[in-house]
Amino acid sequence: LDEKIGMIHGAGLFRTAGVPRLGIPELHMSDGPMGVRQELCDNEWKGVYDREDLVTYLPSNSAIAATWNPKRAKECGEVLGEEARGRGKDVILAPGINIKRTPLCGRNFEYMSEDPYLVSEMTVPLIEGIQKADVAACVKHFAVNGQETNRLWVDTIVDKRTLYEMYLPGFDAAVHRAHSYSIMGAYNLLNGQHCCENKYLLGDILRKEWGYDGAVISDWGGVHDTMAAARSELDIEMSVTYNFDEYCMAEPLKKAVQDGKISEELIDKKVKNILRLMYRLKMLPDTGKRRMGCYHSLEHIRAAKKAAQESVVLLKNDKDLLPLKLSKRTAVIGQNAVAIHSNGGGSAEIKALYEVTPLRALMNAGGGDTEFAFEPGYVIPQKNEGQDTSWQETSLENLVNKSAAEGEASQEAELDRQIKEYRERAVKLAAENERTIIFAGLNHDFDVEGMDKTTLKLPYHQDELIDAVLDVNPDTVVVIMGGAPVEMPWLKKAKEVVWYYYAGLEGASAVVDVLTGKVNPSGKLPETFPKHTEDLYPVKLGEFGREDKLEYRDGVFVGYRYYLSNNVETNFCFGHGLSYTKFEIKNIRVHKKHDVVKVEAELVNTGKRSGMETVQLYVTPPEGKVERPVRELKDFRKVKLAAGEKKTVEFTLDDRAFSYYNEDKSGFVYDHGKYVIGLGVSAEDIRQSAVIVL
Ligand code: BGC
Repeated sequence: LDEKIGMIHGAGLFRTAGVPRLGIPELHMSDGPMGVRQELCDNEWKGVYDREDLVTYLPSNSAIAATWNPKRAKECGEVLGEEARGRGKDVILAPGINIKRTPLCGRNFEYMSEDPYLVSEMTVPLIEGIQKADVAACVKHFAVNGQETNRLWVDTIVDKRTLYEMYLPGFDAAVHRAHSYSIMGAYNLLNGQHCCENKYLLGDILRKEWGYDGAVISDWGGVHDTMAAARSELDIEMSVTYNFDEYCMAEPLKKAVQDGKISEELIDKKVKNILRLMYRLKMLPDTGKRRMGCYHSLEHIRAAKKAAQESVVLLKNDKDLLPLKLSKRTAVIGQNAVAIHSNGGGSAEIKALYEVTPLRALMNAGGGDTEFAFEPGYVIPQKNEGQDTSWQETSLENLVNKSAAEGEASQEAELDRQIKEYRERAVKLAAENERTIIFAGLNHDFDVEGMDKTTLKLPYHQDELIDAVLDVNPDTVVVIMGGAPVEMPWLKKAKEVVWYYYAGLEGASAVVDVLTGKVNPSGKLPETFPKHTEDLYPVKLGEFGREDKLEYRDGVFVGYRYYLSNNVETNFCFGHGLSYTKFEIKNIRVHKKHDVVKVEAELVNTGKRSGMETVQLYVTPPEGKVERPVRELKDFRKVKLAAGEKKTVEFTLDDRAFSYYNEDKSGFVYDHGKYVIGLGVSAEDIRQSAVIVL
């Protein structure tokens, strides 16, 4: 019993105990989604400083989703898996695939999209890539973990249809198609029970309905009740505290078994799932030769860069000023031009091999003949960190990070003076130069675990800065980076706007490649950019306090499903992203053959340079028995075309593309009637459509 108990709870912060007597090894886990986290002490939240643990900093999941290219997801997964293996890990705590229900969620940068179809299509190759290296993916956080506020106690109340249409598909795909060897339970409660102990979620859905036989691991500190956890389908309890023997599934559970309150068979079941995971990873004696892995190589850097290049989104190019020639003096404005981000964000932080900044990337691209004058433009107030323990040690207490806003509130007068001075210097620089590029946006003081945003407004008075710079230099290129949409009140004035997500060690080079035209942009927004914070579906973030119930009243109307169905104007819609060439979609053909619908069309590159376009297929249902979104993404294809080239794109749709979840039937059904199939380059820009009667 002692040996079994050792296997089902954390015996270190990131490992379980092994059973040497039987050759069963410890199970070693590590964060996270953007690269293998630094080596941490076994029983203290401190880095192991003499360790060679610098790794490839990969594009965030948001960036990977913005490529709309499953091949790039697969390659990033391969890097992550190889590096995890190279660092001696068995389980990599990735990918994070929660639906971006509101752009206010602090952890959005770790997640992919507001659309469950896009999430599924990008998650599957990512996990397949990881697991090629004999490392288990641990897809997280199962499920409906849509906010950081009160994350351990918020009780999300979600109806079945919403669950099945919005919040489960990504995990379903991870389990059924990618065969993720492990899955992480979420912190929050779902319909009254903590996810890590949830009978309905882990029992009825995951094990019974989906037949999952992988290992279920708790989020760190996500287990609260020994009996409930023991009886649930959770296999391993992990936490953030050092009292490993006192974890619910440690001594307390052993005692419950000894007292006859819990049958030892329940423990055996958990051990079996863990052994199966180890068997799959070839960790057990005589189960085959396991892959070795390696954790920094040129190939890994190249893969990270390629994905980053495809993740950059050209939002606007009204005057065709992009791509730029960097032959003259160029003014560079904004703290994000010189910032690095890999070392922040929470459990996703990375000790990166290196990270190129935009200014450095510009210098590399321009060469010695180009002069870059730089002004930071806005002030990032110093934080009074003053803590030598890791935020994670106290992460169960709802006090996680010092907000940047706190810093802003202090020393106000001095700060005001500085803000004005920085802005004036930047405006002067922009006025003196023909070319100005602003690098603005967010950082991990805002895109961070444990804390949500309160607004979509850019922090540090950046909007005023951008506005003022555009006044003196209307041709300024505005480059914004972040993990989730921001307001852009100056958008009418700005002619050229580029967006990118945290995009790894070569992310800034990728952006500069797009700015200079070395790379033709092909990124597409995996989420909608609303105009104003007030336009968000009135999403209430859970208040502090254990009893708080948070009803998901928006139902399936998340992201573009909400904006399109309610005619809310946005800055940029889901799927948007421009190229330096032009594409046309022509000649849509739709026909039904047996049980599937085939859709075909021609994609033509009518411009002067080669490029990639993502043809997106949306389905609009007829009026039926339930309220459904105006259109939903059901397939997409990213296609590369030389100038003048033409290719046929083909899609095959089955029932599921037309269906909604019917609670009475506990399954997906479709109404009979006329469905519109639209092919477009964004959720709003449908270029060709056809009707099919089902
Ligand atoms: C996060 C997980 C992470 C774990 C281990 C938790 O705070 O929610 O995503 O994998 O810590 O660091």
